Amino acid sequence: MNKIKKFLVIGNPINHSLSPELQNYWLKKNNINGIYDKQRLEFDDLKDFVLKIKSKEIAGANITVPFKKEIIPFIDKLTPESEGTDSVNTILLNKGETVGYNTDIIGFEKAIKETNYNFVKKKVLILGAGGVVPSIIFALQRMGVKHIMLSNRTKLKAEELKDYYKKKNSNENIITVVDWGELPNFDVIINATSVGLKRDQTLNLDFSKIEKGKFFYDVIYNPKETNFLKAGKQLGNQTENGKKMFIYQSAESFRIWHKIKPEINEEINKLLDQ
Ligand code: ATR
Repeated sequence: MNKIKKFLVIGNPINHSLSPELQNYWLKKNNINGIYDKQRLEFDDLKDFVLKIKSKEIAGANITVPFKKEIIPFIDKLTPESEGTDSVNTILLNKGETVGYNTDIIGFEKAIKETNYNFVKKKVLILGAGGVVPSIIFALQRMGVKHIMLSNRTKLKAEELKDYYKKKNSNENIITVVDWGELPNFDVIINATSVGLKRDQTLNLDFSKIEKGKFFYDVIYNPKETNFLKAGKQLGNQTENGKKMFIYQSAESFRIWHKIKPEINEEINKLLDQ
């Protein structure tokens, strides 16, 4: 019998991660002799962790906050998407080399496609500058948005992101930074902060004066409807939470490791409603 393959998601904190639920479901469903677990690591553990992938002790890994960028110096090769975002969330060993992928981008793109909201030429305000924002910016650029406004409590982080993309796309820079707490005119607003993970948390923003017909997107999917999405909905706007993005990024990682496109069905949906 083949040795059991071990997969891991690493981050800090990691307890909240529901990746094991999805991945173990798909492993079983596809009769793969593997197990997917979660582990909290410190920054100093990253180098050894990647070596364990290289030595095949670990068959593949997902990387989550706050290590998506920090893991990069220890990986042999990056895909254009990882390179373009300075962000890796999936590692595969290919012909003895560790390869860093970014599946958050495709996860966001697929989720947005299903909403039927057309992002072409739209003005997008992103709240937050954490782990997943580089991937959202990359996807938005690929979708052809007109303007991306970044707003983060720690303004410097938003400035750094803007500068990073300016360097990458020197011909055209569609990113600007706005002060935290400001609400400029937008078509789409994305909450990529962690505000709302706890049910009673609210962003200190007054949406009552904005016109209807906007699109409110929250990266958070648990709780299903954050106060941010509730406010958007009450004011007559389209809303979407981060559940599909989470499922699609995970499915893409599975496809990269196992060369099988996993099934996304009602059971998968339920696994995340806990
Ligand atoms: P990381 O910043 O380690 O990548 P993250 O969960 O991806 O972690 O990002 C958290 C995001 O939520 C950050 O943009 C953070 O803002 P700071 O950069 O200023 O820390 C934002 N955030 C967290 N708590 C917040 C709060 N109470 N008000 C506003 N923004 C908050």
